[in-house]
Amino acid sequence: MGIKSLLPGPLGFGTAPLGNMFRAIPEEEAAATVAAAWDQGIRYFDTAPFYGAGLSEIRLGEALAGRPRDAYVLSTKVGRVIHDEVEDPAARELGEKGGLFEHGRPNRMTDDYTADATLRSIEDSLKRLGTDRLDIVWVHDIAQDFHGDQWLARYESARTGAFRVLQKLRDEGVIKAWGLGVNKVEPIELTLDLDEPRPDAFLLAGRYTLLDHDRALQRLLPAAAEQGVDMVVGGPYSSGVLAGGRHFEYQEAPPAILDKVDRIKALAERHGVSIKAAALQFALAHPATAAVVPGATRPSRIAEDVAALHETVPAAFWTDLRAENLISAAAPVPTA
Ligand SMILES: NC(=O)c1ccc[n+]([C@@H]2O[C@H](COP(=O)([O-])OP(=O)(O)OC[C@H]3O[C@@H](n4cnc5c(N)ncnc54)[C@H](OP(=O)(O)O)[C@@H]3O)[C@@H](O)[C@H]2O)c1
Repeated sequence: MGIKSLLPGPLGFGTAPLGNMFRAIPEEEAAATVAAAWDQGIRYFDTAPFYGAGLSEIRLGEALAGRPRDAYVLSTKVGRVIHDEVEDPAARELGEKGGLFEHGRPNRMTDDYTADATLRSIEDSLKRLGTDRLDIVWVHDIAQDFHGDQWLARYESARTGAFRVLQKLRDEGVIKAWGLGVNKVEPIELTLDLDEPRPDAFLLAGRYTLLDHDRALQRLLPAAAEQGVDMVVGGPYSSGVLAGGRHFEYQEAPPAILDKVDRIKALAERHGVSIKAAALQFALAHPATAAVVPGATRPSRIAEDVAALHETVPAAFWTDLRAENLISAAAPVPTA
């Protein structure tokens, strides 16, 4: 249980944007971004078949080729199978996240959380990544944002399919850990209520950020702490808006969010703190957090992320964030 001893450090790199999440990224830029992460000491990489219908896995595999496999930790996901036939990526039914990855590969993708599909997905990921093993496997997006009213039926398919397969692979030592990789707290809460199977960790994206953490603090994180299940924080910049980008929840950020970001930024500036340091150090302050995985498509972002991790943030900044009700009173903040 837990993955803290498995991960090489608190900062990983999330490669969703390298699947051409919002724009077509030149190959050299994608390769240079992963190389920058490697050169600056990052040794945990997260990807998924969904990220550009295999594009992120292919790019990450190429960029890591030749690196000693024991020197880094790799996570990918199951739940979507990538087929050889093509489709119109812009016409995919992605629930509230429509339009995502329309610049990715055009391969047809199907949702499938069954045992057979899980094994097939892992085999396909190994080929695209050019490796013979995965360290962590997350069951991807088994939640309402992608599956609407069908999500509980899909969850049941995952519970009796993917979850059991991954637990077996973990117990046999084929993978080192498994869990859910989702943008919602509900499927993780449900999973922590199960007697069996038992995940080691979960990747929670967008729900433990400076902008949004209340719900995770209520039930999910106390239950995770009690069971020794760790959290990897995905989307620590809320898909970009906190770091100076345009997106929140993978869509154009609405005015209310932009206002809140402005208030956090103003406070950060008053204390001489960079917004990235505030975002990353906030996520890492929770005792359940094993790592944070920001994403990027430009090499320059990596140096910012590494610097943000090491920046000294005065305690008064966190006190003022709380005093201005910009973060929950229940959220742990870093201690000096
Ligand atoms: N369901 C799941 O399991 C799930 C869901 C979401 C995320 N995740 C994981 O979490 C990782 C991180 O999430 P994310 O990549 O979606 O979001 P994120 O880390 O919150 O934000 C990444 C975005 O921030 C932008 N950014 C960074 N520095 C910037 C700057 N100085 N100015 C302007 N923009 C800046 C990047 O833009 P550029 O592209 O221009 O560099 C990038 O698009 C993912 O890659 C994935 O590994 C998992």
